Amino acid sequence: MQIHTQRLKLRELTQEDLQAVHDYASDPEVVRYMPFGPNTMEDTKNFLDRAISRQKEEPRTDIELGIELREDGRLIGACRINKTSKIEAHVGYILTREYWGHGYATEAAKALVRFGFTEMDVHRIYADCHPDNVASIRVLEKIGMTLEGKRREYMMFHGEFCDTLLFAILQHEWQGTQ
Ligand SMILES: CC(C)(COP(=O)(O)OP(=O)(O)OC[C@H]1O[C@@H](n2cnc3c(N)ncnc32)[C@H](O)[C@@H]1OP(=O)(O)O)[C@@H](O)C(=O)NCCC(=O)NCCS
Repeated sequence: MQIHTQRLKLRELTQEDLQAVHDYASDPEVVRYMPFGPNTMEDTKNFLDRAISRQKEEPRTDIELGIELREDGRLIGACRINKTSKIEAHVGYILTREYWGHGYATEAAKALVRFGFTEMDVHRIYADCHPDNVASIRVLEKIGMTLEGKRREYMMFHGEFCDTLLFAILQHEWQGTQ
């Protein structure tokens, strides 16, 4: 599957993306607020194998897509939407550091939210974010999500239990912005 936005193509990952994925997944600054990494090449291979094998699932409930720049075809990151229950889906995103600050994560996340509400038939779309991850908090606000609260020591980041902020948008809230 593919989702086109103004500047991006969200598309299936392939084995050819190994180095581009490894570039961001092995960067300590990029994974600072992620529950994995910095990746070894072995970690990245395992991640890519899992993402590719999930492409064959039917129906697809956990979808990881590469973020490709339409202007030059470069893979600059990845994003994910995972239908975690009948009514809810979780979204996430990650970008190579050199492409931060251009609105790409916001553009990709907006497209995932649209996909979730129009194709996955969910009522809520949510994200969990490290409380210090200001750039991601801003992305979640820009795509219309509301801060619902803090989940105490909800995720393990680099060996430490950390609180996360829970953000979500409801189907009718999203509809109202269209
Ligand atoms: C989070 C991430 C995806 C954001 O990507 P991006 O393409 O740079 O995001 P956008 O450009 O769409 O928006 C970022 C917003 O954060 C703001 N921002 C970035 N750094 C900031 C800082 N240190 N303080 C305040 N605001 C900051 C930007 O100004 C922008 O807001 P604005 O449009 O109102 O000016 C990117 O930083 C990343 O890949 N981080 C590592 C992985 C990660 O943390 N993923 C999210 C896990 S929840």
